[in-house]
Amino acid sequence: MTTARLLDGTAVANQIRAELRPAVEAFTARTGRPPGLGIILVGENPASEIYVRGKLKSAGEAGLRADIERLPASASLPQLLDLVDRLNRSEVHDGILVQAPLPASMGEDAESRVFDAVSPEKDVDGFHPVNVGRLVQNRATLVACTPSGVIELLERSGITIAGARAVVIGRSNIVGKPMALLLLHRHATVTICHSRTVELAKRAAEADILVAALGRPAFVTPDFVKPGATVVDVGINRLSTRASVERLFAAGSKRLDDFDRRGSITIGDVHPSVAGVAGALSPVPGGVGPLTIAMLLKNTMTAAMARAGWAG
Ligand code: GUN
Repeated sequence: MTTARLLDGTAVANQIRAELRPAVEAFTARTGRPPGLGIILVGENPASEIYVRGKLKSAGEAGLRADIERLPASASLPQLLDLVDRLNRSEVHDGILVQAPLPASMGEDAESRVFDAVSPEKDVDGFHPVNVGRLVQNRATLVACTPSGVIELLERSGITIAGARAVVIGRSNIVGKPMALLLLHRHATVTICHSRTVELAKRAAEADILVAALGRPAFVTPDFVKPGATVVDVGINRLSTRASVERLFAAGSKRLDDFDRRGSITIGDVHPSVAGVAGALSPVPGGVGPLTIAMLLKNTMTAAMARAGWAG
């Protein structure tokens, strides 16, 4: 059985971070302050705690100022909007990120109301409708971090996008839709698939580049994959029962050992056996995840330079 080439997200993320360093240093020297990122975390969602910790650590290592503003799960939407407003007006914060998901008690439209309230110039998540509209028109400055990280991973791994048939599974505002637009702007022929797609596996198997961003563990099996295709796994799913891990990984495998040591493992939306069919595959962990953070740092730098009146 052939095994797909692994697309090394950690290496590409390190490369992007190294490229950022001189820009961060120049900005700090010229303005007398580092580029600043304000992260808002509401409540105590365990996954969000881990993501935010990673973002703070990476920002610090890159020489950025990074502050976390916490609100309790019981906070009201107006309180959260006040905090966003304070960061919008802050001189030292160039980027603002409100970690999703927000507590359900804030109401169904809380996320869109909060993302709409972030100043588009500081919107390092690229979620504001102004930034989404700019992306649609292919004149974006701040683009959602995960899909722009996927593009960096593909391009820097030598995968040709122009002319390729690309299939994106998932149509979220955070990943699927911006992903499809970024691929389109690089001249791929793009199909977006979702839960109502008829003959999903067949459509996916037409792809030269398949992006799985639907949030279901090991959903994409080898019958979804054209032999030799590039498969990008955006999923981050936690498996916390041994039976669920045993269904996917053989006895004695490293992932089963990982489970026995930690009590859970993280897997993507792509089944491990896809490695026998795909030409190239991004692993989970170590694929798209590190790039999401690298692109957040890059967006913060872009926002800081634009605010300082420098060309991006
Ligand atoms: N929650 C999961 N992914 C993201 C992201 O990219 N940005 C924010 N703000 N929250 C998230």
